[in-house]
Amino acid sequence: MIVASRCSGGRSSMDFLSRTRWWTVTLAAAWAVNAQAQSKTDAPEIAKAKYLWSQSPHGRMLERILPPAIEPHQLPEPQSAGARLALRYCVQCHYLPNPQMHSADKWQTIVERMNWRMQGKGNMGALMKDMMTGVEAPSAEELATLTDYLQKHGQQAIDPKHPALATSAGQMFSIACSQCHTLPDPQRHTAREWPGVVQRMRKHMSWANIVVGASELRTTPELNTREIIGLLQRYARRDAAKRPMPLTGK
Ligand code: HEC
Ligand code: HEC
Repeated sequence: MIVASRCSGGRSSMDFLSRTRWWTVTLAAAWAVNAQAQSKTDAPEIAKAKYLWSQSPHGRMLERILPPAIEPHQLPEPQSAGARLALRYCVQCHYLPNPQMHSADKWQTIVERMNWRMQGKGNMGALMKDMMTGVEAPSAEELATLTDYLQKHGQQAIDPKHPALATSAGQMFSIACSQCHTLPDPQRHTAREWPGVVQRMRKHMSWANIVVGASELRTTPELNTREIIGLLQRYARRDAAKRPMPLTGK
């Protein structure tokens, strides 16, 4: 509602500066109240994004772009400049992305695409402007730090010649697990960790299906997760993960 009145265009009697101030103050106040009411556990950045979605006619679409999988403190190296930039820039339109979702090459192009969106370009530019006046784009230096950070913690793709892929469970794994990101290397997790990771992925898949909506458009194959987990465990890494953040299934 606030968004609509601000974006309805035309000249008002208020000069631009005071309108902007009014907007900023109103938004900040409304956000503070709403964020408090909405969740006591959300980080302020995420509470703010949720508030903006609640005000936007496109909010439901935006909220559905990425599942709520990771909290700020679960980011790898949460105190690093890269993590702080991700929290500052990457929850303006959707939930916090996990750097471990994509491989380094993918992050490069995704960050470029997101930067372009943050600059208000593209066919969704108008929509984004509608939603927030204050979408901030990173400086060139920040963008480089952010990209390095995401790439450093990125997903490792499985070797296409990996013996696991020659089996029928391997085929199921390829189809099911390459829909949203590169096919992961089984060495990424230990045999103990994999079931929890796959369980989380199942939730992401049902999340994605909710977005698609109509059942005839659903593409997710019936998942035999038992077989996929068995396969991943057979080729899993032996030592405990050195990563700071083995996420638990939510
Ligand atoms: C201005 C709004 C906006 C901001 C800010 C934004 N995104 Fe996005 N993001 C989108 C939209 C819209 C989509 C869905 C369409 C698409 O994939 O381009 C999306 C989709 C995604 C996806 C899922 C698609 C995929 O390829 O896996 C990832 C991951 C992602 N964004 C990462 C990021 C990162 C990292 C940042 C911070 C550098 C960021 N986003 C900042 C608007 C934004
Ligand atoms: C519907 C989209 C989707 C599908 C399908 C999917 N993933 Fe993911 N995956 C994600 C998202 C979103 C993230 C980042 C958030 C997270 O880590 O939960 C992710 C992250 C990951 C990560 C990195 C995080 C970590 O804990 O190491 C691994 C590994 C992974 N997925 C494995 C798999 C496997 C195995 C499958 C097949 C069973 C699969 N994914 C299928 C969406 C998906």
